[in-house]
Amino acid sequence: EDIPSIKDVVTEFPVGAAITPVALIGEHGRLLTKHFDSVTPGNALKWDATEPAEGDFRFTDADTMVNFAEANGMAVRGHTLVWHNQTPAWVFQDANGEALTSAPEDKALLLARLETHIRAVAGRYGTRIGDWDVVNEVIDESQPDGYRRSPWFEIAGLDYIRTAFRVAREAAPEATLFINDYNTNVPAKRDRLYDLVALLRAEGVPIDGVGHQMHVNVDWPAVAEVETMIQTFVPLGVEQQITEMDVSIYTNSGESFPTPPADRLLKVAYQYRDLFALYRRYAGEITSVTVWGLADDDTWLDTFPVTRKDAPLLFDTRLQAKDAYWGVVDPS
Ligand code: XIL
Repeated sequence: EDIPSIKDVVTEFPVGAAITPVALIGEHGRLLTKHFDSVTPGNALKWDATEPAEGDFRFTDADTMVNFAEANGMAVRGHTLVWHNQTPAWVFQDANGEALTSAPEDKALLLARLETHIRAVAGRYGTRIGDWDVVNEVIDESQPDGYRRSPWFEIAGLDYIRTAFRVAREAAPEATLFINDYNTNVPAKRDRLYDLVALLRAEGVPIDGVGHQMHVNVDWPAVAEVETMIQTFVPLGVEQQITEMDVSIYTNSGESFPTPPADRLLKVAYQYRDLFALYRRYAGEITSVTVWGLADDDTWLDTFPVTRKDAPLLFDTRLQAKDAYWGVVDPS
C-alpha cells in the first residue's frame, strides 16, 4: 500500500477516472481518492439518467458523485449533455409518439427540449462541475460533410450544436465547454472535427475545448499519430483533454481470452507509458487526462463491442496496481 499516488507523480495536469456508483465505496473509494484529482460520472449525467421522461429530472446518483468529489477535494468532469446514445426515445418524438421531422415546428420543439435539459442539468451544478462535454460523438467521417446522421442532426442540422453550447455557457458561465469524440487521432476524422470547431468558433459558438476520448488498444494507434493529433488542434487556441482513456488487450472483435495474457498486459503498460509521456510533454495543450474506469473489475469493455474479459485500466480486478500503473508513475 506504499505505492506512489498517480496524482502526486503526474503533476502537469489533473488526472481523473470515470466512475460508477460502486467506485465511491470501501476500497474502491480509497483507491479513487488516493490516486485521482477528478472524476467523471460514467453514466449518471447522461440524458437517460437525468431526464428519463420529459420534465422528470433525476439527480440522485449524480448528486452523490458530485458531493463525494467535493468532500474529497476532487474536480468533476460533466459527461455529457448531448449524445445520440443513452437518450430517451421521447426526446425525438411528438406527443403522439411520432418521430419528429426537420419541419420547423418539430425542430423548434427539439431545440426547446434541449435548452430546458441543459439549463436544468448544467445549471444545477454551476461551478461544481468545471468541465462539460457539451456534445459527444457528433463527427462521422464517412459522411461527405463529416456530420453524424443522428436524430439531432436529421431534425436540427448543426443548430443543435450551436444551441447546446450557447445554452451551456448561459447555464454554467464558469465551465469549460468541450466537444468530445473518439478516434480523433484518425486523420480523416481529426480533420473533420477540426473543420467543425473552426467553423463554429468563427461564428462565435462558445466551444472552449476538444475532448479526445482515446479508447485505444495494445497495437493502436502509434504515438506519433497521437502527437500529430495534439499538434493539429493547437492553431484553434482551444484546450485539449484526454477524456476517456483505456487500452484494450484486444486488437479486433474476434479475439477473446479467458484471462488477460501476460504479453498483452505488458503491451497495455507500454501504451500507457508512452501516451502519458506524450501528454506530459504537451502539458501546455493537454489540460487533463481521464481514464475510463478505476479498475479492471468494472470496465465497459467487458461488454463492448462483444462480451469478453478485458483489462484496459491501471488497476486489476483485485484493485492491485498493474504494470500499466507503473508505466504511468515510473516511465523509465
Ligand atoms: C459507456 C459507459 O461506460 C457504459 O457503462 C455504458 O453502458 C455505455 O457508455 N464513449 C462515451 C462514454 O462517450 O459515454 C461511453 O460510456 C463509452 C464510449
